[in-house]
Amino acid sequence: MIISASTDYRAAAQRRLPPFLFHYIDGGAYAEHTLRRNTEDLADIALRQRVLRDMSELSLETELFGEKLALPVVLAPVGLTGMYARRGEVQAARAAAAKGIPFTLSTVSVCPIEEVAPAIDRPMWFQLYVLKDRGFMKNALERAKAAGVTTLVFTVDMPVPGARYRDAHSGMSGPNAAMRRYLQAVTHPHWALDVGLLGKPHDLGNISAYRGNPTGLEDYIGWLANNFDPSISWKDLEWIRDFWDGPMVIKGILDPEDAKDAVKFGADGIVVSNHGGRQLDGVLSSARALPAIADAVKGELKILADSGIRTGLDVVRMLALGADSVMLGRAFVYALAAAGGAGVRNLLELIDKEMRVAMTLTGARTIGEISRDSLVRELGA
Ligand SMILES: Cc1cc2nc3c(=O)[nH]c(=O)nc-3n(C[C@H](O)[C@H](O)[C@H](O)COP(=O)(O)O)c2cc1C
Repeated sequence: MIISASTDYRAAAQRRLPPFLFHYIDGGAYAEHTLRRNTEDLADIALRQRVLRDMSELSLETELFGEKLALPVVLAPVGLTGMYARRGEVQAARAAAAKGIPFTLSTVSVCPIEEVAPAIDRPMWFQLYVLKDRGFMKNALERAKAAGVTTLVFTVDMPVPGARYRDAHSGMSGPNAAMRRYLQAVTHPHWALDVGLLGKPHDLGNISAYRGNPTGLEDYIGWLANNFDPSISWKDLEWIRDFWDGPMVIKGILDPEDAKDAVKFGADGIVVSNHGGRQLDGVLSSARALPAIADAVKGELKILADSGIRTGLDVVRMLALGADSVMLGRAFVYALAAAGGAGVRNLLELIDKEMRVAMTLTGARTIGEISRDSLVRELGA
């Protein structure tokens, strides 16, 4: 039974998924210090309780880039989502649309742009990595535009992939990985039927559409690993501007100076993010990095934040620290893996309810009224 969004879906996902997939989602880079701090630092931020202020009328609505959102929440781009539930990107996108919030499709999704965008009745967001193969990037942008994607999320914190040691232990990579994954799959029959058999094809849909020859997942993971581009700089973003005239959000900002550069570049938004602790272990948690970034650029572009958000209370904390909206990563993926699209719909309802309690008891009637006054204490960076 699901009672708490933060812990029950994670436990249910762990029961349902073969371990190599659960740990791929759950793990972080190196010793996982930043991964842990993302959640611990958020939990340490004390909300300021206020009472007897007639809080009978609340509104959780907000607006981003001309779009109305029922909650200040966007589903983050998560690679391989179609491996966690059958055609998982479509199920998650439908759940987000039903709640009235955007879904962001990852570059490295299982379902291609052309499968997800027509399945929902609101515009999709699309995330792009900078890859050496600029032909792929151009092709992906053209296809995103043709499919009616509104907002481009450009992820810039992966010029090289951070090492995730858990993957080698779990069978995602390392010795005899294919055999270990096979054995894990056959001992998880729900997943084996739902995703392993009925969820095919299991490739990276956006990349096979470009290459025109669907082959195995391993092939693509190899292609991707060789394709990250450490030479990326702000001028590569100028190149993208030539192909994209819609809103552009830079994801992976942790420093106020980089946030100011994003303003100079003319970005419409940033995501304050350490990629969920999956890239450089030891960097600041988003909760610690956010206040200084908000001091530097609030009002000049939209500030989104992610990494460590598991509950509606965490959403309110991030907004109080200066975010205009948040992105959910693992929180929605655990729910999807545990219970498909219905799990994600339920998770979003839980977050909605938790936010209402937090807003009522901090005296904020609207999203705009959540501010640093809603906190007793933020953390020093
Ligand atoms: C399994 C997994 C895959 C991810 N894949 C991508 C991706 O393809 N592109 C991207 O920009 N971020 C990716 N992220 C990072 C998320 O977009 C987001 O920044 C992160 O999950 C936020 O932290 P949280 O999971 O603690 O909420 C991934 C995260 C996870 C957990």
